[in-house]
Amino acid sequence: MKRSKRIEVLDQRPVNLDGYIDEWPEMGLVAMKSPYDPKPSIKIENGVIVELDGKKREDFDFLDQFIADYAIRIDRAEASMAVSSLEIARRIVDIHISRREILELISGITPAKMAEVINHLNVVEMMMGMQKMRARKVPGNQAHITNLKDDPVQIAADAAEGALRGFSEEETTMGVARYAPFSSMALLIGAQAGRPGVLTQCSAEEATELELGIRGLTTYAETLSVYGTEKVFIDGDDTPYSKAFLNSAYASRGLKVRFSSGAGSEALMGSSEKKSMLYLECRCLYVTKGAGSQGIQNGSVSCIGVAAGVPSGIREVMGENLVAALLGLECASSNDQSFSNSDMRRTARTMLQFMPGTDFIFSGYAAEPNYDNMFAGSNFDAEDFDDYNVMQRDMQVDGGLRPVTEEDVIRVRRTAAKAVQAVFRYLGLTRVTDEQVEAVVYAHGSKDTLNRDAASDLMAADEMMKRGITGIDVVRALADSGFTELAENILNMLKQRVIGDYMQTAAILDDHFQVMSGVNTPNDYMGPGTGYRVSGERWEEIKAIPHRIDTNEF
Ligand code: 5AD
Ligand code: CA
Repeated sequence: MKRSKRIEVLDQRPVNLDGYIDEWPEMGLVAMKSPYDPKPSIKIENGVIVELDGKKREDFDFLDQFIADYAIRIDRAEASMAVSSLEIARRIVDIHISRREILELISGITPAKMAEVINHLNVVEMMMGMQKMRARKVPGNQAHITNLKDDPVQIAADAAEGALRGFSEEETTMGVARYAPFSSMALLIGAQAGRPGVLTQCSAEEATELELGIRGLTTYAETLSVYGTEKVFIDGDDTPYSKAFLNSAYASRGLKVRFSSGAGSEALMGSSEKKSMLYLECRCLYVTKGAGSQGIQNGSVSCIGVAAGVPSGIREVMGENLVAALLGLECASSNDQSFSNSDMRRTARTMLQFMPGTDFIFSGYAAEPNYDNMFAGSNFDAEDFDDYNVMQRDMQVDGGLRPVTEEDVIRVRRTAAKAVQAVFRYLGLTRVTDEQVEAVVYAHGSKDTLNRDAASDLMAADEMMKRGITGIDVVRALADSGFTELAENILNMLKQRVIGDYMQTAAILDDHFQVMSGVNTPNDYMGPGTGYRVSGERWEEIKAIPHRIDTNEF
């Protein structure tokens, strides 16, 4: 066939490097609605749910049973189930009906009913819903802080810069798992050097992650994965009960916890029971709620390539974020893993969460170049900071970040890197040279830094765990090395674990360690003139991008 030059040009466009597939329910490749999804139903006898979404109690799998026993308000079920799904969808969008009323109504519906409700909403209505249902009044953002070399000095500097840029939470992970003690310590120090009050996390194998948390080297945990079918859950070596237990283990030591889930994991792991991604994710979110977790990281997360490949997949992602909010959970709404070769498409996907605002618009914005992201790349990277800041300014939207000056970036990066150098020296870990510090301060990514002796680092990291080093040792090391303010900030983070207020739904800390959560600063949006508006100091901050013409100079 003679080729059309027009089509040839289109064929070469980045968007056509992405993968697409027709809906295929038998393989779980269907976003919103599968012919095999159950119809909503509930039957209650003597205060026990004996039928859920068309299934009798004796036929329940462990997800059904957990959901029936812990995630649905039995006292509200009959009244809520009597309201049609369309009517519930309309009330979610209705500005005259408060978040509180919706939470109460939703607390009595089943997962299949929830999926039906979401199917009535187009993406703009979902955004309207999120604007009202997000737990915390002010939206927030989370960063990934990682690098290809697992260099703790760079982790500290990138964490400091990320904190300065406005992230409320920062998460690290490793290329080499044994680096975890160094990574979490460097992240803790760096974050507090950039902005007091930033929460930090180290995503590692569960026993290690729990241990680092208990020692005060991290302040929250997030990758407690749950899945929508029994087979996939068991393949992950877990049950809803074991996850609930782990959640309590963290919480009992004063750590903030959220679960992780998202569309596509069941299809990817080969056991979707032919159900839609949305229905299976509803089950995950009910399990999360039933386990007593305050929140969730969802929105397909690492399976975004699967969701994005099917029709209405990106709408489903926003739909499942909204389900989290409707259940009263904190929602860290993904936008983390990169999924598209098209800049237009990756930006469009993010607008669904960016415009209404979620508790964390990204559950991992790469605050480093893409090549340094050890989570397999994020939808937005360090190269996109200025684009993001301009979008906040263009639309007068609070996306959780702010413009910064080059002087401030260099200053906080240096403080963080020097603090890690001092702590390593004080604790007798590995050597951090002045040349390493200088390279990291001015680096874009790990291609610009000096190599460390990885073998010695790993031995020292093992040793650090054996010696039982905790957050308090870090405070002492900093205080004795002249980093008084930084020592105080980290001590304050440790105090939060005793106070425990930051374990409330959607909690973050401001610069003065004051909690802002869905409990003490709840979202009160009810249409124009209400809710959170970008104004005052925050608006001045967003407006002041470095590349503008500053009229004060004329
Ligand atoms: N479902 C469940 N857990 C997920 N994670 C990422 N995507 C999903 C998903 N769709 C969790 C996994 C992974 C971490 C980055 O987040 O635990 O290791
Ligand atoms: Ca995350």
